[in-house]
Amino acid sequence: MAKYRIAVIPGDGIGKEVMPEGIRVLDTVAARFGIEFEWDHLDWSCDRYHSAGGMMPADGLDRIRNHDAIYLGAVGWPTVPDHVSLWELLIPIRRNFQQYVNLRPVRLFDGVPCPLAGRPEIDFWIVRENNEGEYSEIGGRLYPGTDAEMAVQENVFTRRGTDRVLRYAFELARSRPEKHLTSATKSNGIIHTMPFWDERFKAMGEAYPDVRTDQYHIDILTAHFVRNPSRFDVVVGSNLFGDILSDLGPAVTGTIGIAPSANINPERDFPSMFEPVHGSAPDIAGKGIANPIGQIWSGAMMLDHLGHPDAGKAIVGAIEKVLVRPDLLTPDMGGKATTAGLGQAVADAL
Ligand code: NAI
Ligand code: MG
Repeated sequence: MAKYRIAVIPGDGIGKEVMPEGIRVLDTVAARFGIEFEWDHLDWSCDRYHSAGGMMPADGLDRIRNHDAIYLGAVGWPTVPDHVSLWELLIPIRRNFQQYVNLRPVRLFDGVPCPLAGRPEIDFWIVRENNEGEYSEIGGRLYPGTDAEMAVQENVFTRRGTDRVLRYAFELARSRPEKHLTSATKSNGIIHTMPFWDERFKAMGEAYPDVRTDQYHIDILTAHFVRNPSRFDVVVGSNLFGDILSDLGPAVTGTIGIAPSANINPERDFPSMFEPVHGSAPDIAGKGIANPIGQIWSGAMMLDHLGHPDAGKAIVGAIEKVLVRPDLLTPDMGGKATTAGLGQAVADAL
C-alpha cells in the first residue's frame, strides 16, 4: 500500500466547496489502486488572516515541508487585498519550495459548451515559469501623491531560472507524439529580458534536435490561441505571459472551472502543489454551484506526480464520461447540477 501525507488547504470562497469533491474522488480512486491518503487539513485563508493575523502561521512552510504534496483550493477574498493574500500564502509556497514549473493542460472535452465554432481538436500543455520574471518585488514608488509620482517594477530573468523551465518544457515536448514546442516572447517591445529569453530558448533547443520549435510574440499568440488552438502541443512562457495564456487556454475550451494546474518542483526536494486554475469566485461562493472539475483534475495531476499515472488516467476518464451528460453539469457549463452532485457523479463513474 502506497501511503501519502497531503497538506490540504481549501482556502477561501468556492475553494472550500470544491475541495471536498476533490478529496471524495481521490479517496475513491485510492481504494481502487491500493493507495492511501492521509489528509492534513489546514485553515490557511483570508478568514485566518482576520482571526489570527496571518494567512498562515509564521512556521507554516516548515509544517508542510515534509509532506508528499500540497492540495490547494483557492485563496483570496474581497476583505483582504489580493496582493496580500497572494504574497503571504501562494507565492511563499511556490518560491520557497522551488516550484518553478507551473503546468496546465488545455483540453476540449466533449460535452462542454465552447465558444469556438467548428470545435477543432484542442489538447496541449502550457508550461509557465513560476518563480521569477515579471512577478518580482524589485521596484518602488517615488513622490507618492504628487504630480511627480512614479512607479518602477523590475523584471528578473536569470539564466538558471530561464534554463530550468525551458529544459522542463523541452523534455515534456519530447515525451509527446508531436514533439512540438512553442515559446511565448515579446522581444520586439521588451528589449532586454525577452531577447535573453529567446537566446536561451534557441540554445536549449540545440540539445533537443528531435523537438520542432517556433515562437510568437505574446499578442499574436493570444490570437492564435483563439483562432488556431489545434496548432499547439506544448507552449512555454514567462511568469506573466504564462499566467495570461493559462487563463485564456481554458476559456477557449469552455470554462475556467474545469482547468487544473500543478506547481512542480521537478527535483522533488520539496512538495509540489496542485490546485485549480480558478480563484475563490466570490460572485458564486456559498451557493453550492461551483464546478469542481478543476479541483478533481488537479488531483489527477497529483497522482501523476506521485507516480500513479494509471490512477490519474482513471480520474480523467471518469471526467470524460461525466461531461457528456448534460444533466450532470454545473451552471457554468450550461447545466443545473450542484458542486456535490457533479463530484459524486465523477466518483460514481470511477
Ligand atoms: P475567479 O477565478 O475566482 O472568478 C472568475 C469568474 O469565473 C467568476 O465569474 C467566477 O464565478 C467564475 N468561476 C471561477 N471558478 C469557477 C468554478 N469552479 N465554477 C464556476 N464558475 C467559476 O477569479 P477572480 O474573480 O479574478 O478572483 C477572485 C478571487 O480569487 C480574488 O481574490 C483573486 O485574488 C483570487 N484568485 C486566486 C487564485 C488562486 O488561488 N490560485 C487564482 C485566481 C484568483
Ligand atoms: Mg491567473
